[in-house]
Amino acid sequence: MASESQQSQLSMDLPIIDLDIYLNNPPTSPLVQAECSRAASSLITYGALLLHDSRVSEADNETFLDLLEDYFAQPEEDLKRDERPELSYQIGVTLENTEKPKCAVDEPCLDIIQRLDPSQRPLDISAHSPDPKARFFWRMVELPPYETQFPGLNAENITPDAAHIKERWAPTMNLWGSSMKNAVSKLSEMAALGLGLEADYFSNAGRYGPHLLAPTASDLNKYASLDTILAGFHTDLNFLTIHGRSRYPGLNIWARNTGSRIPVKIPQGNYLLVQAGKQIEYITGGLIKAGYHEVVVNERTIETIERRKIEFPDRPLVRISSTLFWHLNSDFDLAPVPKLAERAEKVREEQAKLGRDEGEPAKYPPTKVGYQVQE
Ligand SMILES: [Fe+2]
Repeated sequence: MASESQQSQLSMDLPIIDLDIYLNNPPTSPLVQAECSRAASSLITYGALLLHDSRVSEADNETFLDLLEDYFAQPEEDLKRDERPELSYQIGVTLENTEKPKCAVDEPCLDIIQRLDPSQRPLDISAHSPDPKARFFWRMVELPPYETQFPGLNAENITPDAAHIKERWAPTMNLWGSSMKNAVSKLSEMAALGLGLEADYFSNAGRYGPHLLAPTASDLNKYASLDTILAGFHTDLNFLTIHGRSRYPGLNIWARNTGSRIPVKIPQGNYLLVQAGKQIEYITGGLIKAGYHEVVVNERTIETIERRKIEFPDRPLVRISSTLFWHLNSDFDLAPVPKLAERAEKVREEQAKLGRDEGEPAKYPPTKVGYQVQE
């Protein structure tokens, strides 16, 4: 465990990284260099950061949240029309209580929970069956100009049929999805520079990735009692995950270097949350670790539900999380960059000196991203 003093040295507030600095100045400027190294350190220390991007419009996020609330408020028979079990639910809707948090069945993950201070542990997932959340998968993919070893899904995105949703679906999904996709792709350039790589090292490796706009929905009429797990403790398998602001608090993340649970607060305005996934952990040899997170009903979630019932009595009570999973290209050769793997080793040693047990070092044998995802 991290010592008391070490925990108090690290702020519980996630660093805010300003993409505007990167976009508006030459890459060689000291200002840009400093901001890029802050981006890299935030990912190393917290596995996450808040991103400010003036190009992103809060109004687009609101329009997106309204649309998704309307969509998931439909009767189940209507939602079922957008299910594609024959495509393993890789596109369209997945209804609630289908997805299981992989941590509930995964040994090293339970090990991580054991090493956390009891006061900082996630809600107990051992007795938790599938997550009570529904999801929609909307692919945001640029087809590769080369022959791929992983052709994956060629199915068209699904547009819901309901008259009040149909027309606004694709434009809204694409507008908000592109805003988040552009933001996270540009942030990957800042992270690459901050790690001492070429700016486009990650953005090229992810240009043709199978990116997914994957909003989730939790029905707060049914699941609103304190300590309900909406999404159990887990990490994401893609490269970076980006979120817009949700209307309801409840997302907790764990910072690698503190072992503390951090309730996420995204400021109002042009802010997004970015979290590290397994692919960035792999390529950095564990220098950056995939960030653990959970979504639960806490006291602040309940206060927000009560407030919204009064302020917006006609709106559906659904917690939407606007999530985009940004992936590396399936054909990309995934292996740790040697100089980053060396730094990862040093960080482990420093952590060990501080008395922080990180468990057995993970192995990152060379593979293709497509195989890593299949596993
Ligand atoms: Fe996740």
